[in-house]
Amino acid sequence: MCGIVGYSGVKNAVRVLLEGLSALEYRGYDSAGVSVFSDGGLKTVKAAGRLAVVAEQLSAHPLPGCCGIGHTRWATHGEPSDANAHPHGTARVSLVHNGIIENYAELKTELSAKGYSFETQTDTEVAAKLLDSCYRGDPIAAIREACAQMEGSYAFGILFADRPGEVYGTRLNSPLLAAVGQGEGFLASDISAVLQYTKQYYTLEHGEIVKISPDGAISVCTMDGAPVQKELLTAQWDVEQAQKNGYEHFMRKEIFEQPTALYNTVHPRIIKGLPDFTHDGIAPGFFKNITRIQMVACGTASYAGFIGKNVIEKLARVPAEVDIASEFRYRDPILDPTQLVVVISQSGETADTLAALRLAKKQGVKTLAIVNVAGSTIAREADIVLYTYAGPEIAVASTKAYSVQTGVLYLLAIRIAMEKGRIDEGQAAGYVAGLLKAIEMTNDALKTDEKTKELASILKNIEDLFFIGRGADFPLCREGSLKLKEISYIHSEAYEAGELKHGTISLITDGVPVIAIATQTSLLPKTISNIKETRARGAQIILICKQSDEIGDDVYDHIIRLPDLDDLFAPILGVIPLQLMAYHTAVARGCDVDKPRNLAKSVTVE
Ligand code: M6R
Repeated sequence: MCGIVGYSGVKNAVRVLLEGLSALEYRGYDSAGVSVFSDGGLKTVKAAGRLAVVAEQLSAHPLPGCCGIGHTRWATHGEPSDANAHPHGTARVSLVHNGIIENYAELKTELSAKGYSFETQTDTEVAAKLLDSCYRGDPIAAIREACAQMEGSYAFGILFADRPGEVYGTRLNSPLLAAVGQGEGFLASDISAVLQYTKQYYTLEHGEIVKISPDGAISVCTMDGAPVQKELLTAQWDVEQAQKNGYEHFMRKEIFEQPTALYNTVHPRIIKGLPDFTHDGIAPGFFKNITRIQMVACGTASYAGFIGKNVIEKLARVPAEVDIASEFRYRDPILDPTQLVVVISQSGETADTLAALRLAKKQGVKTLAIVNVAGSTIAREADIVLYTYAGPEIAVASTKAYSVQTGVLYLLAIRIAMEKGRIDEGQAAGYVAGLLKAIEMTNDALKTDEKTKELASILKNIEDLFFIGRGADFPLCREGSLKLKEISYIHSEAYEAGELKHGTISLITDGVPVIAIATQTSLLPKTISNIKETRARGAQIILICKQSDEIGDDVYDHIIRLPDLDDLFAPILGVIPLQLMAYHTAVARGCDVDKPRNLAKSVTVE
């Protein structure tokens, strides 16, 4: 949800800001803008559309200068337009914002009474003018006074016209960091924006204010102005990891990175053939008395949770539930200290998931976070963090992050089952071996690439279709359906295969595609019956199943065969053709695969 970059140093600020914003465009891409100290004043260029629009304007009318702020937007208040694009401000103040000012309407009324006028529909313009009204020559005092009046969430990058070369920032519930270069300093929503210049950074806590001076010096203070000594962190990601490396799209690159990402995530947590989380700070015996696992997540991360539920309940016989975070936080969930709340998030910044984590902590329940981004808010606030090592996931559609989340959940399930005495060490080692074999076989599952490309040439002309599956295949259906909708804009629905006949089968007519996922051999006869029910009504069946499962020609129109694997681990492979099918279909329809319309990767508003 919106990307922020700030820079002060010796380089051309516009170049640094545009490079940074380009790395952050995954956070939002409906408009963009920069403000720079240039030719003795504060100059702003902003426009609706992709970053390239602003870049073109800046190349036609360059803004020399070594200090500025930039923004790439995902609209919350007000349509994407030139006027609504950030930065917003006055002659004295320029400000970029990620988040939502919830009480902006009241503040606007108060500011109007003081004589301010408003040209946009944004909450950010209100924040900028509020800051202006508080500014009497002391930036920290003005930020403190303005922030005290704002409710909601924000990360701000700020320039004051009478403070050339200085960049200020502060945050509440939206991410922001300050990165340290040689004689230069950066402000960024995440480290990928500045990786080509530095890997050293400070994370900012809620309510801290950062100042970057013209010589690049970075100082942090509390709202009261008390200096804060920050720990200097080093990013683990490389700039190459955040590039396409010859792939046409990030999504495709990330799909093909899954075998490595899974291995990197799972392997370090296997010691003497058994799952071991001691290096993550989980002492042996931790799970012994856990009575229930409550997982909370959004979107694709929640479907990883459903895969985890299936394995945890099967192996450990511990009840496991998955809640969508935006529902969980408002449904007054029943929690007690014998449960474990597991939040799952690639970004570690998803607002609803973060709120769910805080709610669980408030109620005294132990929290464990499965997170990909080091130092993210969820990672910092959870009692225990299990990092996934997928590397940066840039495409909005989540692929490798989902797979590594499931990898961690499989390991957890085996560990919990062991500690609960449901399986002995020998059995646990057998399951671990099964998991490693599945990870290796993801390489074979990627060979479905060609076949899925062929099928995309059929799917590209379709406007509605269904996914059906039973048991562990049902979360795969939901993930496959989400992926297809998200990037190809084809409407689809995921159904439990046995449920279709309770109403939805009325939508099956001649030629309607039904993608049937049948990686669960134990449920195959039942799934086949359901497939036949739809085929009898004209459905065109695309079947995804194992290599050796015997299936008559009368069951399907098209078939994708996956390597044979135990039912328990088969979903690890099953997701891959679904990702590839969505990818190829989106490409065939000419969609912007990595930046689908209306979406942003990191959803930091509720
Ligand atoms: O960063 P998170 O894992 O918390 O994000 C959760 C969802 O927003 C995310 O998985 C979303 O559903 C993806 N765009 C799906 O591909």
